[in-house]
Amino acid sequence: LSSKRYTLAWVTLSDKGAAGKRADESGPLIGEMVAEKLDLECVQGFIIPDEADQLKALLTDLALTQKFDLIMTTGGTGVGPRDITPEATLAVIEKRLPGYERAMTMASLSKTPHGAISRAVAGTMGRSVIINMPGSPKAVAECLEPLLPTLKHTLEKLQ
Ligand code: MTE
Repeated sequence: LSSKRYTLAWVTLSDKGAAGKRADESGPLIGEMVAEKLDLECVQGFIIPDEADQLKALLTDLALTQKFDLIMTTGGTGVGPRDITPEATLAVIEKRLPGYERAMTMASLSKTPHGAISRAVAGTMGRSVIINMPGSPKAVAECLEPLLPTLKHTLEKLQ
């Protein structure tokens, strides 16, 4: 009897990262944290600039064509002029997961008032769960922690 193994794609939104001007710690951290909780058969990472059309196309491909179970973005959730991650995600998800968003906000606010700045969105597309996270490794660790216990059950319910 073998239990299901899952696939994870992380996407880092960073103009500097995509230009090779900044090392990305947050994407790999997502991979490490999820791998401690879920049995992963495949992890793929992407670094793209803060461009809405590029993100929408990538999320759609990862969810509907490549059929990743879990797709997590990091960065671009704030109020900077180039922060477009939540809008691009809202444009492609089918069922929004407001509870995921609240769990991230609650955990964030218990750590820092700046948690109120993140507009991170979560939802489903096809049989994938898509989750936005803020950009810093500290924020990723704090936002992912409250979601880890429910990921497996959510993915099972989506099938
Ligand atoms: N959430 C947690 N848990 N911890 C943090 O340190 N930083 C905040 C916020 N959310 C933070 C957090 C800050 S300073 C910003 S500007 C916003 O996330 C948006 O970050 P982003 O634009 O990198 O996505």
